[in-house]
Amino acid sequence: MSKTILITGGAGFIGSHVVRLMVNKYPDYQILNLDALTYAGNLENLKDIESCSNYEFIRGDITDMEAVNRIFREYRPDGVIHLAAESHVDRSISDPLAFIRTNVIGTVNLLNAARDVWHEKPDDKRFYHISTDEVYGSLGNTGFFTEETAYDPRSPYSASKASSDHMVRAWHHTYNLPFVISNCSNNYGPNQFPEKLIPLAINNIKHKKSIPIYGKGENVRDWLYVEDHAAAIDLIFHRGKNGETYNIGGNNEWTNIDLIRKICQVMDKALNREPGDSEKLITFVKDRAGHDKRYAIDSSKLMTELEWKPSLQFEEGIEKTVKWYLDNEEWMNDVISGDYAKYYSRQYDNR
Ligand code: NAD
Ligand code: DAU
Repeated sequence: MSKTILITGGAGFIGSHVVRLMVNKYPDYQILNLDALTYAGNLENLKDIESCSNYEFIRGDITDMEAVNRIFREYRPDGVIHLAAESHVDRSISDPLAFIRTNVIGTVNLLNAARDVWHEKPDDKRFYHISTDEVYGSLGNTGFFTEETAYDPRSPYSASKASSDHMVRAWHHTYNLPFVISNCSNNYGPNQFPEKLIPLAINNIKHKKSIPIYGKGENVRDWLYVEDHAAAIDLIFHRGKNGETYNIGGNNEWTNIDLIRKICQVMDKALNREPGDSEKLITFVKDRAGHDKRYAIDSSKLMTELEWKPSLQFEEGIEKTVKWYLDNEEWMNDVISGDYAKYYSRQYDNR
């Protein structure tokens, strides 16, 4: 094996697409997937590659310092792609400490372990921290987040991610730890946990349940197909410059209400329902506390320096996504059979 790459959070939504890409594209790399399998982690996401000889799953929690140190000493990874996180804003509002534990303390455990095993020969090593555009705060009707935009996180989730970004940079300046960071906009696609807007809407439309839209549905997000994010991660991991940050976005802004109307149209067609049927399910509910108005990413640095561009237009991406969820009913049923019902009623019943 030419390299050992430790991917954290590889059983989650984005992580599973990154693991699959790496395992298939680099047969001479040993790909380790370190994941605690929280409610968001699901090994079903990786069924197609689980028996590949260059892949190994390690169940472990990044908040467990001893376990993290042991894994680094045993496997001595050449690179880390760190995706493990608590990732849902609404959950961060009801339980902020879980986000501090995993996103901040967990990240510091990984940084310390990498520093300790890499200190003699750091030059060919790389700690790649996957972050979010939410660290930059909220935009008005115009403008874009660039890599120079000052951090202004406004939810417990984004504050925990911003904090972890600062930790990564501090470990670079203080301990010479080689790193890259990327900050990406909203992802969509197969295998996303249905607490997030798009899979939640698809699942509710399918079952003719109401589609909850926070506030007036005027908030804007910039949507990127998850495999395009995974491709950007591959590029940045291999060709990004040490110590640099790259923004990744879809250049694809939608208000939530327009996005949901679009999904309703695609679903009506896919399910042979009358045009307009699904839109009747739209229900405006109490707004998210501190709801960021608009995110929009300027990815020109990544596009110019590393020649990345999204491969899919939104029209095609959303049709593919709807089709995936409709074709993978068993995946959805497994995911919502556990604690999901309790979460759903806690989150939505009093709105
Ligand atoms: P996800 O919630 O789907 O998956 C997170 C994964 O991390 C799960 O497999 C979970 O089991 C694992 N995990 C959680 N806590 C852990 C712990 N303590 N130890 C080990 N593993 C743990 O998240 P996602 O949407 O795939 O996001 C992945 C990363 O990308 C996160 O860092 C997130 O901040 C970032 N990100 C997400 C988006 C998005 O739109 N989803 C956009 C930009 C950046
Ligand atoms: O921008 C990147 C971020 O995108 C990632 O860092 C996060 O991990 C990811 O969860 C996502 O955060 P958002 O809060 O933007 O995604 P979510 O799918 O939760 O919500 C998208 C928009 O839809 C947001 O404006 C809130 C709104 N929404 C969400 C839900 C779950 C609703 O109107 N109704 C809902 O039921």
